[in-house]
Amino acid sequence: MLLKSSALTCILCFQSVISFQSSTFRNHPLSVEISKTTSFLSASSTSAVAEDIKMAKPKKDNKTLNKKVDFDTILQTRRTINSFLPDLPDDWESTLTTAIQSATFAPNHKRTEPWKFHLLGPKTIRKICELNASIVSEKKGKEAGEKKLKRWLEMPGWLVVTCQSSSKDDKKSKDCVDMKDPAGLEREDYAATCCAIQNLSLSLHNNDMGTKWTTGPVNFDPQFSDIVGLEKGEYVVGTLWFGTPEKTPDAPLKKKNLDDVFVKHE
Ligand SMILES: Cc1cc2nc3c(=O)[nH]c(=O)nc-3n(C[C@H](O)[C@H](O)[C@H](O)COP(=O)(O)O)c2cc1C
Repeated sequence: MLLKSSALTCILCFQSVISFQSSTFRNHPLSVEISKTTSFLSASSTSAVAEDIKMAKPKKDNKTLNKKVDFDTILQTRRTINSFLPDLPDDWESTLTTAIQSATFAPNHKRTEPWKFHLLGPKTIRKICELNASIVSEKKGKEAGEKKLKRWLEMPGWLVVTCQSSSKDDKKSKDCVDMKDPAGLEREDYAATCCAIQNLSLSLHNNDMGTKWTTGPVNFDPQFSDIVGLEKGEYVVGTLWFGTPEKTPDAPLKKKNLDDVFVKHE
């Protein structure tokens, strides 16, 4: 009896782990394998289920239930997306909300939670695109500005991610950020915001939405701060374009191999 109930508890625990995995990685190629495994868990006979579970135990050569492998694949398959479908997917807002929630779980020293996520609407997007076009036109000529305007207006989703400077300085934008102190809060808050952006990008990627992280002179123009309504000391860490990838590029070739970057010490 005792044996029977602990076997059942085991089955239930195992089942909940698998259902967590299958929902987390439902868009991942390996999820096909996971769902194959999940389907037999709904078999009516407990003993048949137990037998199947025994068989489904992860083996060295069977990575279908190895969450770590799935997660690393998600990390390694995220790409910067340069071309998006014109329309956002139907569920984009809930997907983005979840991604922002995940972004806020990024590590941050002193628990400063320095980030903010500004979702831009059509009017604001146009103003930013026009501001950028005018900056580009001034530097590279009218034609280059017009080309940029057209390209930027094609981006389906816009999210400006900012960091709140801990500096007491009243000035806006990058001028108030002193990154010189290597252990200073400014640097740590910037790093934490970068971690948040990465969490966000990976969460979207896991839900079939791509991102492009951009930074450029327009982000640090005082007019940008006014258009987006940034507060004192709030500066841009990245403008993220998001949407359904039209094409996912191959991973850029690594200039360094693992031995170049992974240094083992005594
Ligand atoms: C802080 C930061 C700023 C970036 N700014 C730009 C940018 O302004 N324009 C751009 O094309 N890509 C930008 N990128 C994306 C990188 O170019 C991209 O990550 C790199 O080419 C590697 O490609 P992958 O993301 O597909 O691995 C930025 C990335 C980071 C982390």
